[in-house]
Amino acid sequence: MAILVTGGAGYIGSHTVLRLLEQNYKVIVIDNYSNSSPESLKRVSEICNRSPIVQQGDICDRYFLRKIFESYPITDVIHFAGLKSVSESCVKPIEYYHNNVCGGMILLEEMQRYCVNRLIFSSSATVYGEPERVPLDELSKVGGTTNPYGTSKYIFERILEDVSIANPKMNITVLRYFNPVGAHQSGKIGEDPNGIPNNLIPFISQVAVGRLEYLSVFGNDYLTIDGTGVRDYIHVMDLADGHIAALENKKSNRRFNIYNLGTGVGHSVLEIIAAFERITKININYKIKERRAGDIAECWADPSLAEKELGWKALRSIDDMMRDSWSWQKKNPNGY
Ligand code: NAD
Ligand code: UFG
Repeated sequence: MAILVTGGAGYIGSHTVLRLLEQNYKVIVIDNYSNSSPESLKRVSEICNRSPIVQQGDICDRYFLRKIFESYPITDVIHFAGLKSVSESCVKPIEYYHNNVCGGMILLEEMQRYCVNRLIFSSSATVYGEPERVPLDELSKVGGTTNPYGTSKYIFERILEDVSIANPKMNITVLRYFNPVGAHQSGKIGEDPNGIPNNLIPFISQVAVGRLEYLSVFGNDYLTIDGTGVRDYIHVMDLADGHIAALENKKSNRRFNIYNLGTGVGHSVLEIIAAFERITKININYKIKERRAGDIAECWADPSLAEKELGWKALRSIDDMMRDSWSWQKKNPNGY
């Protein structure tokens, strides 16, 4: 049994590869390094003394995929590869649909050609769009996406559902991540965004380390606890464990499953700043600014289905998330 991990050199992929290796899975990673470097997987090997097989290549290249499926006894695919910036997707929609939808289709076609029937797909809470109510469970309305990135995830989810209906051998799990943050506790692997970060925690960490002058807090006039946006931040190691639980899912007898991976608790931007300051003892310089276009007020998960069927639940606290994000940033001020 070997697991193909697409995009396994990236942020969530590298942490999941670590967990897979620790659980003795044979792992083959493919990555085109468009948003990562080979260094992340070298560090994974340093942490656990095991190595995945790594092949550089693109999921859109079906001849590359064929070589991979012919070379290794792959039974399952965990599909992380894709582009993930909301703002960039508005400027480069064709690239986003090409990678996230066409790339996924080519992967599916080649999986079917080689009779590989089990797939776990990285989706996002972004498919829920503006929530009608929180917490969001898996039956909440989807599709009101406001940017090509979110729409690409929504479209691919729909494609996967249709494929699972048409092919009775397929077994597909869609994992909808809420806001992944943090790093492995060793501080050796973590999130390494290109350029100025879009996301809150990497931005705060870079202010703390002196790379950025101040954090802009995007709006303090939302109808939330303190006016700032509320999100369900989840530690990346909890997410990694969620993938192992999905891989080993024995309870569900459906062939198409969707699970929210979140903590079930929302935190505001100001609460996150305060937690970061408390844990690191570093003052974060911030300014209240206009709302960011496309942002929603609040969003958090009802993760109870994952607990019931996968036996998974997020265990790490906001303090763990802040401590581990900071440990990674401090040890790697310029990333990998
Ligand atoms: P990431 O950019 O760190 O990792 C993605 C990896 O895929 C990178 O290593 C990149 O080089 C690789 N890649 C991209 N296109 C490829 C292609 N065509 N062929 C081969 N490799 C390719 O992102 P991440 O944060 O680890 O996210 C992983 C997945 O989870 C993505 O699908 C993302 O959309 C999804 N997701 C992420 C978040 C988040 O906030 N990080 C939230 C929800 C969902
Ligand atoms: N925020 C700031 N200042 C910043 C960055 C963010 O105030 O510099 C605020 C945002 O306004 C929001 C909160 O911090 O209220 C979180 O913002 P992020 O950019 O960290 O995360 P988002 O919830 O906007 O989006 C993230 C990923 C998406 C994914 C979504 C749901 O970037 O890809 O979570 O999973 F789809």
